[in-house]
Amino acid sequence: MKIMVVGGGGREHAIIKKIKENKDVERIYALPGNGGIAADAECVEIGAKDIGAIVEFAVQNGIDYAVVAPDDPLVLGCVDALEERGVPCFGPRANAAIIEGSKVFSKNLMKKYGIPTAAYEVFDDMEAALSYLETAPVPTVIKADGLALGKGVIIAQTLDEAKQAVISMMQDKQFGSSGDHIVIEEFLTGPEVSVLAFTDGKTVKPMVSSMDHKRAGDGDTGLNTGGMGTVAPNPYYTEDIAEQCMETIFKPTVNAMNAEGRTFKGCLYFGLMLTPNGPKVIEYNCRFGDPETQVVLPLLESDLLTVMMATTNGNLEETEVKFSEKHACCVIMASEGYPVSYKKGFEMVIPEQIADSVYVAGAKFDGGKLLTNGGRVLGVTSVCDTLREAITESYEKVEKISFGNAYYRHDIGKRALDAHKA
Ligand code: AMP
Ligand code: GLY
Repeated sequence: MKIMVVGGGGREHAIIKKIKENKDVERIYALPGNGGIAADAECVEIGAKDIGAIVEFAVQNGIDYAVVAPDDPLVLGCVDALEERGVPCFGPRANAAIIEGSKVFSKNLMKKYGIPTAAYEVFDDMEAALSYLETAPVPTVIKADGLALGKGVIIAQTLDEAKQAVISMMQDKQFGSSGDHIVIEEFLTGPEVSVLAFTDGKTVKPMVSSMDHKRAGDGDTGLNTGGMGTVAPNPYYTEDIAEQCMETIFKPTVNAMNAEGRTFKGCLYFGLMLTPNGPKVIEYNCRFGDPETQVVLPLLESDLLTVMMATTNGNLEETEVKFSEKHACCVIMASEGYPVSYKKGFEMVIPEQIADSVYVAGAKFDGGKLLTNGGRVLGVTSVCDTLREAITESYEKVEKISFGNAYYRHDIGKRALDAHKA
């Protein structure tokens, strides 16, 4: 089989390494991939948003199955376009990807179908939003409607900060047209859990839970990033909570999407907060999380490609989705200065013995050398019997990797370890 994976980050590298385990796979193409992914797939210089070129490539090269991993092409209708030309795909169509593409859509969906989430109001008029803030409790959470690279959420501690956030989104267009509509919502508290789930639109099979570390600095300080590291499973996500989430969140979401005529197939990502009043949805994503994928897939014991194809073909119920009982930890190595500004182009050295544990996010080949080429450069994952061992092993591997201006957090997994002790 010839497989095509759209995307070029650490998540895609983890997906590709796992798909390679299937004996029927002859070739894997990554569009565009990156210099590190090139060790595991044939990288093709086609951008993940260039839907026309992606479809042409798939048709010309006889692709048997396509995996569309990032949010942008999904929201832009990459799956629809490929399916129209007869290429079966993993991932939702555009009318279902809207669950991530529009926060207004997802909040209204949850309200309509009684799925627990933070109380909220939607505004498309700045003056109305500003006057609403006068009576809203602080902290207040302000979210731009559309995709904003994970940066469209502001937690305002004071009324002034909240007003500033509304003005920068709606008047100054900080996130472009994503700020034409905004959501102002209740501030929730509690541990956060990421749960990725396979679904064929009928059956939902959740993957092992995980914990992201979104802030740039140790001790959860500094700016929000795409994610500086992950551990799985998430110790806060007990079996009782998992059952509750299945009945009150996962199944109702899949059913709600069907009822709206927007059947979701692929990987549905539930960003949950375990509040004192029960689990609530903070966000939905229409795809695998990054860097959640880099801890979740290494724990998957079933064949990934078989499970993916089952979501497309509608036979997920009969398909085994089994996870190991072990623990995984992924530490992201970034470029100093990420997520604001950083230098690129430093030579990277990744020893051969640990290459299997490394998922490359931002690198390119130049003159035969592998050079850094992004904010998040790579992730290093370890799978061990205990969380403590997985953390220790990942940091040992990090010490063996070198590139200029490398930066990483030193406390990935600490909160999870503390929760185990508590
Ligand atoms: P999102 O991009 O929607 O994942 O939001 C980014 C982060 O903001 C989340 O991971 C939470 O830590 C935080 N957040 C979002 N919504 C809320 C909320 N209603 N209450 C408290 N924290 C929130
Ligand atoms: N790690 C969070 C995300 O993928 O959106």
